Amino acid sequence: MKKLKIGIIGVGRLGYEHACNIANRVPGSELVAICDASLDRAKAVAEELGVTAVYNDPKALCNDPNVEAVAIVTNTASHVEMIGYAMDAGKHVFCEKPLAETVEKCKEAEKIIEAHPDLIFMLGFMRRFDHSYRIAEKKMEAGDMILVRCYSQDPISIIEGTLDYAPRSGGQFIDMSIHDIDLIRWLTGSEPKNLWAIGGCYEFKQYKDWDDGDNVSCLMQCENDAMAFFFAGRAAAHGSHVETEIVGTRGTLRISGIPTDSMVEVMSSHGVCRECYQDFITRWHDAYITEIEEFCDCVATGRKAAPGVYDGTKSTNIAFKCKESFLSNKQLTL
Ligand SMILES: NC(=O)c1ccc[n+]([C@@H]2O[C@H](COP(=O)([O-])OP(=O)(O)OC[C@H]3O[C@@H](n4cnc5c(N)ncnc54)[C@H](O)[C@@H]3O)[C@@H](O)[C@H]2O)c1
Repeated sequence: MKKLKIGIIGVGRLGYEHACNIANRVPGSELVAICDASLDRAKAVAEELGVTAVYNDPKALCNDPNVEAVAIVTNTASHVEMIGYAMDAGKHVFCEKPLAETVEKCKEAEKIIEAHPDLIFMLGFMRRFDHSYRIAEKKMEAGDMILVRCYSQDPISIIEGTLDYAPRSGGQFIDMSIHDIDLIRWLTGSEPKNLWAIGGCYEFKQYKDWDDGDNVSCLMQCENDAMAFFFAGRAAAHGSHVETEIVGTRGTLRISGIPTDSMVEVMSSHGVCRECYQDFITRWHDAYITEIEEFCDCVATGRKAAPGVYDGTKSTNIAFKCKESFLSNKQLTL
């Protein structure tokens, strides 16, 4: 099997995971170059993974003739610039979510990608590639959709990193809830037409300085009349809790109602306990691998990749409407 030669830009929290997957866990890929604004970080990861081409200039990585595709895992505000560098150099692109930090920037990304119809572009909404979500999506055959309900809670155990990243994250809706917004669009097969977002700073008051909440939620009505609800929190006591429920006229599907990391039940003086995932990287480990496998297959076969750039623009637009609703405390129509 011919391996896709991928260069990665950004090897921070998630970039390191993608770099390890591309290098060692995805049969159809080879990690051939690493770039990070911190050259020391890039060198350390390159040494660990046996990669010889190391850069701190993203343009230089994109122009490396040995690189066929670029994985962009830098901070959100730089995604569109990186997409431009990579596609102008003739490289396929896998880009982490969210597509950009504004809807205008998403439109710029659309133009770049439309100008390169021969190149594959894929956006990293990895929940669509999680084994359980794929099974649930396949089971939604009969009947009509009534409701999609989503919970996304990061665990308190990683709060230090969460708070460190928060000021450059773009906020809860664009950074975290965007995963649930993508799920709602994907699972309902529809777009929200009305929404009302609420929330507040329940434990970490510093979120107020960023015009944000540490816990937020939103109720939506979709164009096909399906209802949707999401809740996002940053400090769950029990672990990384992502739960989704799909209620239809013929039945209900629930994914990960109890977000345990194994089938083990611990019986002790505390009663019966099941332990939970303690970070998002462990929870989505397999999905991060599967999405890169899908990206490689799309490049190999010339098949269009999904989710794509328009999913990125639509989800970003919805996330900003949620933020506007949260800040104004008003129901909004899209
Ligand atoms: N899909 C998911 O589950 C998920 C989870 C976490 C993060 N993300 C996304 O991944 C992206 C990165 O998040 P993270 O948590 O890894 O952030 P991070 O801050 O830990 O890492 C970002 C890395 O990019 C590097 N970088 C920044 N600007 C650069 C530039 N101009 N050139 C080269 N390197 C640059 C930084 O030095 C850093 O090492 C964000 O867009 C985030 O939204 C997605």
